[in-house]
Amino acid sequence: MELPAFTPAQESLFLTLGGRALDSRLPHPFLGDTMADEVLGRTGYDLTTLPPLRTRSPDARTKVFDIAVRAKRLDEVVRGFVARHPDAVVVDLGAGLDGRIFRVAPPPTVDWYDVDLPEVIALREQVVPHHAHAHVISADVTDESWLDALPADRPAVIVADGLIAFLPQDGVVSLFNRLTGHFPGGELAFNAYTTVAVWATTHLGSYAAIGGAVVNPGSNDPHAPERWAPALKLVEEILLTRAPELAAMPLSGRLAARAIAWNAWLSRMSGTSVLRFRF
Ligand SMILES: C[S@@+](CC[C@H](N)C(=O)[O-])C[C@H]1O[C@@H](n2cnc3c(N)ncnc32)[C@H](O)[C@@H]1O
Repeated sequence: MELPAFTPAQESLFLTLGGRALDSRLPHPFLGDTMADEVLGRTGYDLTTLPPLRTRSPDARTKVFDIAVRAKRLDEVVRGFVARHPDAVVVDLGAGLDGRIFRVAPPPTVDWYDVDLPEVIALREQVVPHHAHAHVISADVTDESWLDALPADRPAVIVADGLIAFLPQDGVVSLFNRLTGHFPGGELAFNAYTTVAVWATTHLGSYAAIGGAVVNPGSNDPHAPERWAPALKLVEEILLTRAPELAAMPLSGRLAARAIAWNAWLSRMSGTSVLRFRF
């Protein structure tokens, strides 16, 4: 199909979609999202144009581990929340072409909102299968008004997978305050970007296609969002250097993770983490 001319921030959705698609082709996938591969196929996007998915490692597991396992952790946050709150609202911020609702399979009493920029939502509607309880919202998440369309009287679980790096810091602060003010209570979970991760995406040649779109300065303190939005309370920091799925990684990956997993700061600064907050 003819793909729209995306901005680098929008184009980044192919990195995460592609990572999940490649994961699903592994003999023993970490996430196993075969729909990601189908959606990717419908777009006709050429993954070889994305250097981070073309690492020199001959073993595909090392390319997809972070993307697949962080998606799995975020799925678990949503699945756990909707099991406890069957009347919940789920909000996936910067959803891209992710079919998370199909992986989570929430009860039919849940309403699910996938939010992304209009150009992305237009493509999403062509290539991601429709789900009876899913709604799409075409909006810049930092805009003030899109939340008005969502119910304000139900508990909410809000996730952002691969989004925060593309938002200016004042946009993140006001977004978190608006989210926690809109819903009576809930959870917010996202993969964090440290200053090291931001430096890497903005300076390493392999991220040149999207690095220019990274505007967030990053944060090295998992408690920092509690200061940005006082309603937030950190529940857990999930460090992927300690993920049980590492047991299925090649020896080099297991040894590298083991060398830093003992220390939370090292794990945070050199690996992927998911932060889960209650409000
Ligand atoms: C790395 S992709 C992740 C997509 C999806 N969450 C996934 O895991 O495949 C980042 C997504 O954030 C979206 N995005 C970036 N800035 C945004 C903004 N200000 N408002 C809404 N979406 C935004 C992009 O369009 C893109 O789809």
